[in-house]
Amino acid sequence: MHTNSVIIIKSPREIEQLKKSNTIVAEVFRELKKMVVPGMTTQELDRMAEKIIFSKSAIPAFKGYRNYPATLCVSINEEVVHGIPGPRKLREGDIVSIDVGVNLNGYFGDAAITLPVGEVDKAAKRLLGVTEKALQIGIETARAGNRLHDISHAIQKWVEAKGFSVVREFVGHGIGKNLHEEPQVPNFGSPGQGPRLEKGMVFALEPMVNEGSYEVKILSDGWTVVTADGKRSAHFEHTIAITDGKAEILSIF
Ligand code: MF3
Ligand code: CO
Repeated sequence: MHTNSVIIIKSPREIEQLKKSNTIVAEVFRELKKMVVPGMTTQELDRMAEKIIFSKSAIPAFKGYRNYPATLCVSINEEVVHGIPGPRKLREGDIVSIDVGVNLNGYFGDAAITLPVGEVDKAAKRLLGVTEKALQIGIETARAGNRLHDISHAIQKWVEAKGFSVVREFVGHGIGKNLHEEPQVPNFGSPGQGPRLEKGMVFALEPMVNEGSYEVKILSDGWTVVTADGKRSAHFEHTIAITDGKAEILSIF
């Protein structure tokens, strides 16, 4: 998986392009956050995201990718990732993961958040908090000179210390002129392993955290990933660039 992988180093100019694309991703979230209320359908979220992306002269990155049919991935409760938007309505107490990808002038942006719908139970709040913090810890560990799996290990250690598990079958990734580039960025692993991080590398870090076991399965639609035990899952993702100091988060304003 990691030997022989070519990690493309981006120039400052390319990182500026990636920041533009990822800023659109952040703008989509700013609008969608207001729409995550009971009764909203997941396809209404999808339409709004697509409208915003096209209004910025960008194109949705997921639609058509391996025949994926929508702009967003919207994954509710026990759905981990890659839920397909449709007529399903959000309900009070649900947690909903929204993943957005954007292509602006050939440069890609990718991020995800999990939001509560109305009031959610304490365990759900804890799951969201632990997963968002897992992403933060991953970002803090993403420093030039560290190794890739230092990130993976830091995320896993934090999540498991909180009694949750990290999904194994889906991982983060390099990103640039393609949505998915080398390397894979697992959310589990051993410290001191993997390639050394260098300034100009750009990654989408995306911990997927399950309340129960880490095992997942794919539904018959061919996309929707759900937990094998039916317990809930959360997902946070940012696109980040390795610098001389702290990693720069590209998918925020
Ligand atoms: N953020 C996810 C990923 O990096 C979303 C991909 S959905 C797909 O894999 F449709 F594009 F596959
Ligand atoms: Co991604």
